[in-house]
Amino acid sequence: MKRAAYATRGPVPQDVIAAEEFEAPKLGEGQVLLEVMAAPINPSDVLTLTGEYGMLPPLPAVGGNEGVGRVAKLGPGADAWAIGELVLLPIGSGTWTTHMVADAQRLIALPPQGDPRQLAMLSVNPPTALLMLRDFVDLQEGDWVIQNAANSAVGGYLVQIANSRGLNTINVVRRDSAIAGVKAAGGEHVLVDGDDLHKRVAELSSGAKIMLGIDAVGGMASERLARSLAPGATMVNYGAMSGEPCMLNPGTFVFRDLRLRGFWLANWFRTTPPEKQFKVFRELSQQVVDRQLHARVHATYGIDQIKEAVAAAAAGERDGKILVEPNKG
Ligand SMILES: NC(=O)c1ccc[n+]([C@@H]2O[C@H](COP(=O)([O-])OP(=O)(O)OC[C@H]3O[C@@H](n4cnc5c(N)ncnc54)[C@H](OP(=O)(O)O)[C@@H]3O)[C@@H](O)[C@H]2O)c1
Repeated sequence: MKRAAYATRGPVPQDVIAAEEFEAPKLGEGQVLLEVMAAPINPSDVLTLTGEYGMLPPLPAVGGNEGVGRVAKLGPGADAWAIGELVLLPIGSGTWTTHMVADAQRLIALPPQGDPRQLAMLSVNPPTALLMLRDFVDLQEGDWVIQNAANSAVGGYLVQIANSRGLNTINVVRRDSAIAGVKAAGGEHVLVDGDDLHKRVAELSSGAKIMLGIDAVGGMASERLARSLAPGATMVNYGAMSGEPCMLNPGTFVFRDLRLRGFWLANWFRTTPPEKQFKVFRELSQQVVDRQLHARVHATYGIDQIKEAVAAAAAGERDGKILVEPNKG
């Protein structure tokens, strides 16, 4: 058995993590052994390795926050589960590992016909996209939403969910080469960021009132997005891909009475009753199985290539997510 572990944090994320062998753990009451099939490397995983994330596990730790696995062995009192069942790994459980022990009652069963790679990305980005669209502004069919980093996984899910609800999205990317991927994910309107963004947005939407802006970038990208919003609109920031604070000119912010809100899925996990969370995951997992929700995969790596995998995930201009498939050579 092997896992990708780290005992320190540092500015170069791939330098602190390495694959190591570990002994087969013993199963306690109500526990199962899981064989991990796939787990993504998200920006939050990279920030966890560099020590810049909002929640850091005690050291030493195993990398990885989400993923899917199959039940490989049942401990005493866990016979409600069957060997081979496909399950969502508990969030925050250190998922870059060939095997892990989990409490059976924390597991969510997944449709057996689902693609493990797609289901491995279910716990974090699809609910983020869904909740940001659902919980801040009461949007009606035909309304417009604008987002940046639209070629990210969250951006792609957001487009797919918005399309299914009859919402129009304006999708902002930072490079021409990202346009095709967003269009392939269903984003009809794609613009490259720039100082005149608000003018191009007004033209493209025929001056529609845009009441929701979704910002994953920060820095001056926040200001450029805010300038496209209607008076009284809400901008939700959920990421800092630029590494800079959200910058908002008071002239944009004050005169138009904009609201800036933050969104962190970790807060939703903390404050939402488990049955409500299960309901969201049941719905989203079915949509992944039906391919209504899908994210592009740039490359997959085995556990022994964890350093290369983390370096690839930390680099920009990818064509999709980096996944770890720990049990593939
Ligand atoms: N708050 C929450 O609860 C929550 C939940 C999930 C995700 N997130 C955040 O959402 C963001 C997207 O996550 P993801 O997994 O969807 O990402 P992803 O698929 O890995 O894509 C990363 C995105 O960031 C863009 N990017 C990278 N460096 C950038 C820079 N310096 N300036 C502007 N854009 C840059 C990339 O554009 P290029 O392709 O051009 O490099 C790409 O669009 C991340 O910030 C993540 O931490 C937050």
